Amino acid sequence: MSDWSDLDTWWQRELTEDPSYQAEVRPLFLELLDHSPGEVILDLGTGTGWVLEELGRRRCTGIGVEINPNLAAAAFEHGPVVVAALPDLSWCRDDAVDGVTAVLVLEHLADIATVFGEAGRVTRSGGTFTLVINHPQITAPGSAPVVDPVDGEVFWRWGEYLETGSTEEPAGDGAVTFHHRTMADLLTTAAGAGWVLETVIERGLPDELVEGDPLLALQQGLPRLLGVRWRRA
Ligand SMILES: C[S@@+](CC[C@H](N)C(=O)[O-])C[C@H]1O[C@@H](n2cnc3c(N)ncnc32)[C@H](O)[C@@H]1O
Repeated sequence: MSDWSDLDTWWQRELTEDPSYQAEVRPLFLELLDHSPGEVILDLGTGTGWVLEELGRRRCTGIGVEINPNLAAAAFEHGPVVVAALPDLSWCRDDAVDGVTAVLVLEHLADIATVFGEAGRVTRSGGTFTLVINHPQITAPGSAPVVDPVDGEVFWRWGEYLETGSTEEPAGDGAVTFHHRTMADLLTTAAGAGWVLETVIERGLPDELVEGDPLLALQQGLPRLLGVRWRRA
């Protein structure tokens, strides 16, 4: 199971080379983000800190939480960063922040009940949790496109959607762990920690990414990303 200690080079390359980040992930996150100038937001698994940069542009204060010291050093250009291992937020006092953000991080964490609980403890009443993750439809172990060899039609194999479990995906010279949980698990766990659902967005591939690629075009009706915003009761 990866602790991300050797994945910083791979992740920095992914961020710059994978067009889906600019075309899909970033726009979805910005659509969900609802913060006023002056607010303080904790960005979980901040990576190189592009969320901190965006928060700064909105005159908010972003504070990153990051396990990998090299990524934390890169993020430090955009704001303060705490080098710490999630889901532990015991270093942060109760009701300290106006919100928590997590972009493509939750699927790498095994214990989401503690993530939602701790995020709720440190967020003031009325604050938000803004989440973007790979859609549970594509994180299920065994989930993959299947191409009919006769006519080239593409089908989607659901895999073990109803199970919780994890998969190891290649990442540079190593591997990265994805934890799968169903939509029901995700929403029920968040509700159990006192988060009130405000918005859910399911997103498929945008036109600009499928142009000229028939395999991707045939998957365009499938959800790839899930964005959710909750509010603290
Ligand atoms: C897929 S990257 C996303 C980075 C960033 N949120 C972004 O959108 O560019 C996942 C990030 O979560 C961090 N991470 C993974 N497990 C973590 C943990 N247990 N505690 C803190 N950070 C963690 C990784 O080091 C990495 O920076």
